Amino acid sequence: MDKYLIDGGRRLYGCVPLQSAKNAVLPLLAASVLTEKRVTIREAPPIADVFCMAQILRELGADVTFSGNDVVIDSANACNHEISSALTKELRSSVFMLGSLLTRFRRALIAYPGGCDIGLRPIDLHLAALRRLGVRIAERDGFIFCDCDKLRGAEILLDFPSVGATENILLAAVMAEGRTVIAGAAKEPEIVDLQNFLNTMGARVAGAGTDVIEVEGVRELKGAVYRPMKDRIEAGTFLLACAACGGEIETRGVPAENIRLLLHKLRENGCKIHTKNDRIQIESRGRLKCNRRIETMPFPGFPTDLQAQTAALNASCEGGALIVENLFETRFKYVPELQKMGADIEVKGRHAFVRGVKRLHGAVVTAGDLRGGAALAIAALGAEGVSEVLDLSHIDRGYADFCGKFKKLGAEIRRVRV
Ligand code: UD1
Repeated sequence: MDKYLIDGGRRLYGCVPLQSAKNAVLPLLAASVLTEKRVTIREAPPIADVFCMAQILRELGADVTFSGNDVVIDSANACNHEISSALTKELRSSVFMLGSLLTRFRRALIAYPGGCDIGLRPIDLHLAALRRLGVRIAERDGFIFCDCDKLRGAEILLDFPSVGATENILLAAVMAEGRTVIAGAAKEPEIVDLQNFLNTMGARVAGAGTDVIEVEGVRELKGAVYRPMKDRIEAGTFLLACAACGGEIETRGVPAENIRLLLHKLRENGCKIHTKNDRIQIESRGRLKCNRRIETMPFPGFPTDLQAQTAALNASCEGGALIVENLFETRFKYVPELQKMGADIEVKGRHAFVRGVKRLHGAVVTAGDLRGGAALAIAALGAEGVSEVLDLSHIDRGYADFCGKFKKLGAEIRRVRV
């Protein structure tokens, strides 16, 4: 297993090339089997979650090839509607496959999904919505069995704007008979990207980005060539790293409105932020101030996927911060690792109280989940002395060339085999 060796304290300067958004590409890959025609996703990020999703599609019988930066899916010969537990346990997003498989085969059998260890992550909303579309569902021995005679459009009210459930419903509704209305839908930009992709394939979806999405079922979908949106969480991670280290960097490809609340919080820290079209520039000088309160919420609220990285920044700012995690029950598991670097953070249930210390110091820490791992890297980059970040498998799930990109900005970071 690889680790990072990081000698902290270097300022970051330069422009960060952003990858396509992990959370956009995964549902697009799931959607690619809605048609028997060829689908090309341009610039798919070479990250473990994408490779795992590709493996799931291959298990269904699809031909998946990586050519240059693109991934090409030809599922004309796909005939399998079962996904083995080895793969679904690796990747929670495999749950999207329920919607796609039901549209394509009227049947699906998947093992209960896995993913990051950040909380309970039930899928009751997904299953209740699929039932509304006419799906019969049985859960037995860790497997979910679904089948239907046909999918029928319906009005679905989501009690909570779940990103995954909204995407799954779209995948099940695009070719259902009649009209589906999703009220209380999640409004994340990645859902708009999925809508755009489905419409490129010939679907009739409208309203993504608002809380009511309408889908008019179509008879068939065609192939498509599509370039996904850029990764707003990756952009946020680099902006937070620059804030923690000092310096001046620019991200290109993510418009400010996709991470508006983060930019507001960074200004509150004392950073200068300039935005123009899809460029975001940050300038960080001197000691920053803690954010008084950060509370994660569904979009357009503060993203839970940037909560850990924000805590890592606040750990060495002046003052104190209260961080409230509303989405996932156990998303503070990185805190004991940050404490090894001298962070003063107390966790009580969904609340973390951060008292800023003057400087974090180097330590040997272990990444236990994707964004928690990124947070440890940020803390190490800003800390005094040498750190080791162990177990990069989680970071590899979501960030392509994390180490190389930081190196180009001037960080002292190396990836080494253990
Ligand atoms: C997606 C993102 C993930 C991000 C999260 C919240 C992908 C691949 N992953 O995950 O990076 O952190 O959105 O922005 O896009 N819930 C239920 N029942 C359900 C479904 C969800 O109770 O059936 C709850 C979850 O336990 C959680 C909350 O709803 O508390 C948010 O989950 P959801 O929006 O579904 O997140 P994911 O789609 O899993």
